[in-house]
Amino acid sequence: MDLIIGTWSFCFDAIRQKEELYRSETSCLDAVENTINQIEGDERYGPCIVGRGGPPNSAGYREYDAAIMDGRTLKFGAVTALSGDYNLADHHKMLTGEGAGQFALENGFRAECETPHQSKPVRNFGENDSKSHDTLGLIALRQKGSEIAVGVSTSGAPGKHPGRVGDSALPGGGLYANAHGAACCSGDGDEILKFCPSFHIVHLISQGMVPEEACKEVVQKIYNQNNQLEIALIAADIKGNYGACSTVRSWNDPLTQKHYEGFPYVLWTKDMTCPEIQLAPTVS
Ligand code: GLY
Repeated sequence: MDLIIGTWSFCFDAIRQKEELYRSETSCLDAVENTINQIEGDERYGPCIVGRGGPPNSAGYREYDAAIMDGRTLKFGAVTALSGDYNLADHHKMLTGEGAGQFALENGFRAECETPHQSKPVRNFGENDSKSHDTLGLIALRQKGSEIAVGVSTSGAPGKHPGRVGDSALPGGGLYANAHGAACCSGDGDEILKFCPSFHIVHLISQGMVPEEACKEVVQKIYNQNNQLEIALIAADIKGNYGACSTVRSWNDPLTQKHYEGFPYVLWTKDMTCPEIQLAPTVS
């Protein structure tokens, strides 16, 4: 792998632990899937609104949205409103709700909670959690072979109505990739899905814009229309350029309790001995 970037500082440890995998011949899709699975399977990431420790919906059980996309082939796979704790990624289709769970069982995935009502929150989520929309998003790039892949995963807005699907797993909304680049985002999915920001960024990259400028242009346009919207984006192009932008002014990492004056994302390149946390520019 030449480059990995991930939304929010909470993915720092997982990216650091996967360095050996990134230095192997593994595909970008597998690198993305493997890293996301590690975080999804670890209950400590629940307060980051990801995986099996995540906050439940208003009926008390978790429903996940997750997706993965390969830029070279445009293969896409997603699950939305999936209840039960699976590690699931299929690269060809979008499945939702009970059908997604049924597909997982038919394909040999083990469910820890087979019905929604057996799924229990691991802790009580409070007032502030309901304002969180953090989404794990990851981009992996290998220039040799022009490989680029993007994936996202979230347990979605805390206390959401059962069946609510946000932006995350929607192609063009929470993620997009083509042969030129990839983008993904985090934030208030009910609003974000109106703007198709990931598609917009990748479209600008395809026209020759560098990822940093593309991210800024898209976030600025969205901000001009809705200056209350929380959105954070990362992107990369096939040449190895990367960028990010957000409307986030202040954020506390739920894992480390560290405070950031903006949107912290994680960057790893093959020349680094350790990943770095970078702060994205904001718009006004
Ligand atoms: N962006 C995650 C969500 O709103 O569900």
